[in-house]
Amino acid sequence: MHVLILNGPNLNLLGQRDQNVYGGKTLAEINAGLEAEAKKLGLTVEFYQSNSEGELVDRIQGFDGGAIIINAGAYSHYSLAVADALRDCKKLKIEAHLSNIFAREEFRRTSVLSPVCDGVISGFGEQSYLLALKYLAGRVQ
Ligand code: DQA
Repeated sequence: MHVLILNGPNLNLLGQRDQNVYGGKTLAEINAGLEAEAKKLGLTVEFYQSNSEGELVDRIQGFDGGAIIINAGAYSHYSLAVADALRDCKKLKIEAHLSNIFAREEFRRTSVLSPVCDGVISGFGEQSYLLALKYLAGRVQ
């Protein structure tokens, strides 16, 4: 299965952002680890990060693989455009967050993406993406 791992705004600054919340690794380091794990799991992955809502929508619309893992950052909490793109995308969709959004500020506790995704993984740092990949690998066996 081919998997798109999408990251939204400010996730390009991982490693510099609050390390107590998001960990110390850069996005490139996280992605390198995921690529190695994906290979072991028999999956292929592509990565995309954008700070722009429209670019995330374009990427979702243009995706032709089997599943999307999306951490839309703050867009998760209010982007109806990203939610609509995911709703219209007939692939498996997993929402991932590094932090536990349900244990943080009130405005982070709601995600408009959760109702249009197949599942949500939140609070396990970079492992959130890995858990999503493991789930997808199980689906294809
Ligand atoms: C985040 C949580 C969001 O609330 C925040 O805006 C982010 C990262 C996470 O991975 O924990 O940018 O999606």
